[in-house]
Amino acid sequence: MQKQRVFSGVQPTGNLHLGNYLGAIKNFVDLQNKFECIYCIVDLHAITNRQDPKQLKSNIFETVASFIASGLDPEKSIIFNQASVSAHSELAWVFNCVARIGWMNRMTQFKEKAGANKENASVGLLVYPNLMAADILIYKATHVPVGEDQKQHLELTRDIAKKFNNDFKCENYFPIVQPLISEEISRVMSLKDGKKKMSKSDDSDYSRINLKDDKDLIDKKIKKAKTDSTPIPTKISELKNRDEAANLISIYSNINNVSVEKVLKEFGGKNFSTFKSKLSESVVEKICPIGEEIKKLLKDEGYLTGVLEKGAKKADLIAKSNIKEIYDIIGLAKFS
Ligand code: TYM
Repeated sequence: MQKQRVFSGVQPTGNLHLGNYLGAIKNFVDLQNKFECIYCIVDLHAITNRQDPKQLKSNIFETVASFIASGLDPEKSIIFNQASVSAHSELAWVFNCVARIGWMNRMTQFKEKAGANKENASVGLLVYPNLMAADILIYKATHVPVGEDQKQHLELTRDIAKKFNNDFKCENYFPIVQPLISEEISRVMSLKDGKKKMSKSDDSDYSRINLKDDKDLIDKKIKKAKTDSTPIPTKISELKNRDEAANLISIYSNINNVSVEKVLKEFGGKNFSTFKSKLSESVVEKICPIGEEIKKLLKDEGYLTGVLEKGAKKADLIAKSNIKEIYDIIGLAKFS
């Protein structure tokens, strides 16, 4: 039987938000007591889009600080940045040769990110999912906690693992990963448009709650969040076609760990202003201490560097031994 191991990654593109927290990082924290966990700051993924070098460096530190401030314990989980472990890139190249171009072209995230001018997107953006598969499979991870937007990439990871195992006749070598996607809140939506996911790249800062936002800003953003003119319903079925209302209620339910039914029982029939002030209170209570801790940790670059160095050493040990094994399966060898 495969050893159970969790892997996940977050891009250091700044502005980690409530979607990243509720959709992914909160689960990372819960899992660290049950599994061996490896959490990666995927800086090589970030450069598939143009990054300012100075800003990228500081975003890497901010992402480690956000992990720790959210409750990840570097003594329990391996925390490191992708560029420190070269086997990720080596296996990504192998997967560039295993995966098919047609598979990449079908990725909805590529289509969304490349936009109308596909010819002008970086090649890295097209083969992004191969690097993601390499991140996971270089550790033979079995479970991957992510938000719903990454589901298609994990399906591709499964396809790559199956094709590799089959092409090289090494049945069960790479595990077929299980996505761990929160059932309650797989996709946190924008505060301005309930049909769009909350995103770091949205032009409007009012579309998201950032982990570093202070109380006043959170209050303002929630007050301004789009809703409709009908009072809060009493039944879940009545949330259908009310995307903005459903989003705010699901955020409230998730942050307070209460069911949506219970939330509707408490607020059903009331108007949004009462609900929004309660929602604001809950978000402030959860997010502001994390934001304060991020700011505190960022002042101690020595500590954060130490965490990354220690994590990279541990990750590299596993990855180096696995890439050797993988090269051997393919018929490659390292003479250096
Ligand atoms: P990234 O950096 O965009 O997002 C990090 C994590 O946050 C989740 N997420 C959300 N969840 C719910 N609602 C939202 N609005 C929302 N926005 C973001 C994402 O699903 C993700 O889990 N390709 C990945 C990073 C990656 C990775 C990996 C993940 C690289 N290699 C290997 C898992 C395993 C990404 O860009 O996530």
